Amino acid sequence: MAMTEALQNSRFLKACRGEAVDCTPVWLMRQAGRYMQEYRDVRATTTFLGLCKTPELAAKVTLDAQRILGVDAAILFADLLPILEPMGLDLDYPEGVGPTIGNPVRTAADIDALKEEDPRQSMPFVGEAIKLVREGLPADVPLIGFAGAPFTLAAYAIEGGASRNYIHAKTLMFGDPGAWAVLMEKLSGQVIEYLRAQIEWGVNAVQLFDSWVGCLSPVDYRTYVLPHVKRIIGAVGGKVPVIYFGTGTATFLDAMMEAGPDVIGIDWHTPLQRGWELGAKAVQGNMDPVSLFAPRDVVLGKAQDVLDAAAGHDGHIFNLGHGILPKTPVDNVRALVDYVHEKSAR
Ligand code: CP3
Repeated sequence: MAMTEALQNSRFLKACRGEAVDCTPVWLMRQAGRYMQEYRDVRATTTFLGLCKTPELAAKVTLDAQRILGVDAAILFADLLPILEPMGLDLDYPEGVGPTIGNPVRTAADIDALKEEDPRQSMPFVGEAIKLVREGLPADVPLIGFAGAPFTLAAYAIEGGASRNYIHAKTLMFGDPGAWAVLMEKLSGQVIEYLRAQIEWGVNAVQLFDSWVGCLSPVDYRTYVLPHVKRIIGAVGGKVPVIYFGTGTATFLDAMMEAGPDVIGIDWHTPLQRGWELGAKAVQGNMDPVSLFAPRDVVLGKAQDVLDAAAGHDGHIFNLGHGILPKTPVDNVRALVDYVHEKSAR
């Protein structure tokens, strides 16, 4: 889908290209979620997967969050893990537990049995949601698509749920590197087709979430993960900006940069400046999401710290260092967005 001039010239996409902007663009990871009454109202009518698979509802929560917060980009409402379902994994989101997989991948045979489907056929609801969001968004507000990065997807597929030490995932990675490589290749192939499909359907940028990769050492990241992320970014990049985000990755951000993203996302453990020092064209981040629970003046002070760290550098996209948490006060989030726009005006 050809991108209009209004979108190309939007603050967000200019910043992704490292170009000068009238003020710093801001969006927030997990900006549509349980902290917002409008989300809870929609969510009360269906299950989480039901919400992800009903284009009208997914589009509504995407559009509500963008409009209520006044952010410079919308993010598709979906989740990292539904891509695993067509591969043959039994995904569920029991209330209050978080995602679980009933038949986690543990052996080379399990990996061989994983199916590779075309997401255009297996996840058509995502395309329909993208179309509805695009119709409902202001003409100059870009839509961000996303996928899980292969390590984070593999870790979930192997562990079968949230994990503290990733013992099953690392045992397979260290103990059977051949099988690990096959798993990473299969997941990467699915992620490539899923992101290409999202771009065909009309998203204006994509983000790869590597939320759990911070459990690795720098050398293990380079050995077991980097080649696969490089392949994905090489395959989907060029048409729309690619943002690559991980948490706890301070010790190997240089390696993540080698994967070739247009924008590097960093968490609050790392000074924002580090992104530019590593040669990034654009840097996204990095306010501590927990600081949003503090009194308003503290929240705005934390926002100012991030703006000071960016020091008017071109190519800054204001975001949190990780997703917004449930129970975050919405008024603080709105005040944050207004503050960033006002104080960063050039
Ligand atoms: O940013 C957005 O507003 C878009 C929507 C989005 C969701 N999940 C919605 C969601 C995005 C981009 C994600 C990504 C995601 N999903 C990540 C990476 C982001 C990160 O914060 O690191 C991860 C690790 C997941 C997997 C996942 N999905 C978990 C661990 C959970 C449970 C979290 C919880 O708090 O229960 C989910 C469920 C989920 N994904 C919810 C939402 C709004 C809450 C589900 C509900 O309504 O009960």
